[in-house]
Amino acid sequence: MDSKKVKELKQALIKELQEVSTESNLEEFRLQHLTRQGTIAEIFAGLKELDADQKRIMGPELNALKKEINALFEAQKETIFQQKLKVAQDKEKYFDVTISKPVGHGSLHPYTRVTEEIQSIFMSMGFQVADGPELVTEFFNFTALNIPDDHPAREESDTFWIDHNRLLRTQTSTVQIQTMKHQKPPIAIIAPGRTMRNEATDASHDFMFMQFEGLYVGKNVSVANLLATLKSFLSTFFGKKVNLRVRPGYFPFVEPGLEIDATCPFCTKGCSVCKQTKWIELMGAGLVHPNVLKHCDLDPEEYSGFAFGFGLTRLVMLKYQISDIRLLHSGTIEFLKQF
Ligand code: DAH
Repeated sequence: MDSKKVKELKQALIKELQEVSTESNLEEFRLQHLTRQGTIAEIFAGLKELDADQKRIMGPELNALKKEINALFEAQKETIFQQKLKVAQDKEKYFDVTISKPVGHGSLHPYTRVTEEIQSIFMSMGFQVADGPELVTEFFNFTALNIPDDHPAREESDTFWIDHNRLLRTQTSTVQIQTMKHQKPPIAIIAPGRTMRNEATDASHDFMFMQFEGLYVGKNVSVANLLATLKSFLSTFFGKKVNLRVRPGYFPFVEPGLEIDATCPFCTKGCSVCKQTKWIELMGAGLVHPNVLKHCDLDPEEYSGFAFGFGLTRLVMLKYQISDIRLLHSGTIEFLKQF
């Protein structure tokens, strides 16, 4: 070994390192030259055979060689890493919009499906969809709806009060008031929406559920108009002719107040849904109470109307045979995937 040989080796290694362009080339270089069995270690081993004077010359030369090659190796490693990083960043910046990756499809929530279906039936009869806030004042939820001051529904055990005057609406009937305050007759609206009641939950009760309100206000409106509208809606919704049964019911905002049942759409002879009675209880309805019209600045001598309200949640549960109400807003993927 002499200085010339070391110089030649150095040049050869530098040349080789300059040609390294990938991580795997780099690793090959390391294994071949930089490990304990590598070229540099091998040439160091040759020192043993030299005499003391030569050792004194060659030792530092070999150390310088090792240092330089290691430094170049690290520099090359950094260059390759930076190149790789840039490729990855560019890929992120410019993504190929033509690549089609298979993605899972979502589905419409049963609430959305049924709401859209009901809306389209009523819209075909000339009704418009109305919306109202979920946080309302006492006036909209109770007073304007002719609900007496001492009515138990006003109590804290039934209602989520936010403060002495504001609450989470317990019924979509509030939208009747909001609409009549802003619109003059003829009015024909439906209002689906969430309602909240301070209730303990179980499979058939929840503190939040959906209702569907209907309101028609015009001149000389009668119970016959109400029944014809409901019969037509229910027959289209259930896809078969439905008959109605009317019982008296008390709701402070309608006079007369009615409870409306329909022939069971799922059977002719009695089934588990109608509890073998062939009838299902569907909704409350009636003719708008004169006091309600007055609260909305409408003259009851001139105008009359009908209103109805039913549990949209109940209808959805009936239609899809959902046994636990809590599933509807649980966000459980397995449940939602079925629709
Ligand atoms: N708001 C009533 C409830 O939550 C349902 C209802 C009954 C609505 C009669 C009406 C109606 O519009 O006329 O139980």
